[in-house]
Amino acid sequence: MPLAGLLLVSLLIQAFPVVPRAPYVSTPPDVVDRMLALAKVTSRDVVYDLGCGDGRIVIAAAQKFGARGVGVDIDPARIYEAEANAKRAGVEKLVKFRLQDALETDVSDATVVTLYMISAINVKLRPILTRQLPKGSRIVSHSFAMGDWEPEYVDAFRDAAGTTRTLYLWTTDGTIRP
Ligand SMILES: C[S@@+](CC[C@H](N)C(=O)[O-])C[C@H]1O[C@@H](n2cnc3c(N)ncnc32)[C@H](O)[C@@H]1O
Repeated sequence: MPLAGLLLVSLLIQAFPVVPRAPYVSTPPDVVDRMLALAKVTSRDVVYDLGCGDGRIVIAAAQKFGARGVGVDIDPARIYEAEANAKRAGVEKLVKFRLQDALETDVSDATVVTLYMISAINVKLRPILTRQLPKGSRIVSHSFAMGDWEPEYVDAFRDAAGTTRTLYLWTTDGTIRP
C-alpha cells in the first residue's frame, strides 16, 4: 500500500477507533431488581454499570438503596437519556454518567459492577476489574459469563414476561485474573 494510503488508514483508525461494542438492549425492571439483590447492594455501595444504556441500573440502585452510582456508555445518546432519567427520578446527586469506553474506565472506587455486555468485552474487562476493584467487590453480569472465571453463583430464572434470564455473580478476592 502506498504511504499516502497507510497514512489515511492510520488517521481513520485514530478518528474512529475500533472499540468492541455491545448492542443496546435494556434490562427489564424486574431483572434489574434481581441483579441488585444478587449483588446485595446497600447505601454504602458505589455501583458502576459499564455500558449503562439509559442508566436504569444505577438509577434503581440510588432510588431503592440510596447507593451512589456511575454509569458509563460509549453512545452519547444513551448518556443524554440517562442524565435526563436520573433528573426525572430525583437521584441526580447520587449518580453520574460518563461518555467513555468501558475498557478505559477507572473502576477503582466501585464496590459493585454490573454488566450487560457481550462475552468478548467481559473477557477484556476481567483483568481490569480484578486488578482495580477493592477486595470483596461484587460483579453481576446479565446473560454473559467471563471466560473461564467460574462464577460464585448462577441465577437462572424466568422474568416477569416469561423470558429465561441468567445472571452471574463473582466476588473479587484480590487475585488478578488475566
Ligand atoms: C445490552 S445494553 C445494556 C444497557 C444497560 N446496562 C441495561 O442493562 O439496561 C449495552 C450498552 O453498552 C453500551 N456499550 C457497548 N459497548 C461499550 C463499550 N465498549 N464501552 C461502553 N459502553 C458500551 C451500548 O451503547 C449499550 O448502551
